Amino acid sequence: MNKRILLGVCGGIAAYKAAELVRLLRKQGFEVRVVMTAAARQFVTPLTFQALSGHAVHSELLDADQEQAMSHIHLARWADLLLIAPATADMLAKMAHGLADDLLSTLYLAAECPVFAAPAMNQAMWGKAVTQDNVARLRQHGVTLIGPAAGEQACGEQGLGRMVEPADVCRQLQVEQRPGILDGVNVVISAGPTREPLDPVRYITNRSSGKMGYALAEAAVSAGANVVLVSGPVSLPPPAGAELVQVETTLQMYDAVIAHSRAADIYIGAAAVADYRPQTVAERKIKKDRDIGNIVLTKNPDIIAEVARLQPKPLVVGFAAETDDLENYARHKLQAKNLDMIAANWVGQAEGGFESDRNALQVFWPGGLQILAMTDKHTLAAQLLNLIAEKLHEKNPVKSS
Ligand code: PMT
Repeated sequence: MNKRILLGVCGGIAAYKAAELVRLLRKQGFEVRVVMTAAARQFVTPLTFQALSGHAVHSELLDADQEQAMSHIHLARWADLLLIAPATADMLAKMAHGLADDLLSTLYLAAECPVFAAPAMNQAMWGKAVTQDNVARLRQHGVTLIGPAAGEQACGEQGLGRMVEPADVCRQLQVEQRPGILDGVNVVISAGPTREPLDPVRYITNRSSGKMGYALAEAAVSAGANVVLVSGPVSLPPPAGAELVQVETTLQMYDAVIAHSRAADIYIGAAAVADYRPQTVAERKIKKDRDIGNIVLTKNPDIIAEVARLQPKPLVVGFAAETDDLENYARHKLQAKNLDMIAANWVGQAEGGFESDRNALQVFWPGGLQILAMTDKHTLAAQLLNLIAEKLHEKNPVKSS
């Protein structure tokens, strides 16, 4: 695990969260050096960060004393990881365009280590096309964004733009910084919808886009796992490094999942599997002038429940997609399907669940619960995998350590 974090603090009300972040990072064994922009120093004093990090805070690019102690290039080389939190719209713009007019933006340009940024700004600023362009550019340049989160903002408005809570930033760094967290672990993930044909041109399906399952597959590959992704029909690019098995119907998904799960350490059921299929499939297109009456449905196998019956049983993680009574239904599914963990999400709401780029999860396991707040599906996937890796470690300390 990387040990030396250079924390860049920008000027925004969320700068106070960076103080807690330093405390948590140090608690996890990281050595932390802090760089503050001039605006950040208007919100929190350097003394706070000096006391929490145990080191003098760096602020000035052209300060002969600081350069003598540790030059900005030396500081950039010292870091195993650069984390900018909070990252303002201004700093993201500078980074996206290679501007280097202060110490932090210069360090970003000079850094050769992984870079993470936890944006924090007003919701309208975050939503502005130019900010989104900058964010897309930074992602292309390899910067990992953590958040932002949604909720009430300091300005009184509601929306996307809050800095992700320090504990969640730490959780994501843990996953990213432990590429070996699932080293050599065999993970099977299902994603997307299934399609149940009525005739050669029509089918019954659901709204799943596959984004959640594909994000999990990418995160599992990053964590060092051997990943088989069994996917229903989606329009997403195949995740690099995963073996993709494309299926259409529930019965095909069942066959592929069971075959691959026999050698799996973990099965994650993120697919929205059709519970029923038409009992008969017409060989030719059903004509509208023919009264077809009712469609008779027959029950599909419960894939995840069957995986949980395999011997040896992999660690089985289900999802629960609910429009009401989320916790009760999720807890029931956890028990009824003999799962080790279940990640419950609301569907049919304005944000999260099906199709959305973002989601929030309530994760339950026998005797435990963890809330993962609304964020982008990639961040969420990394957070969920961290919990899953912890469970695997409890179950099988040798395989997952
Ligand atoms: O794909 P996205 O657009 O990103 O949306 C993500 C998602 C909402 C689809 C995802 O987060 C999610 O909730 N997936 C599970 C959806 C679902 O089918 O939930 P369920 O409550 O009906 O099923 C419970 C569990 O049993 C799931 O793990 C499901 O994969 C599994 N199941 C269900 C039926 C069945 N016949 N076989 C199964 O394995």
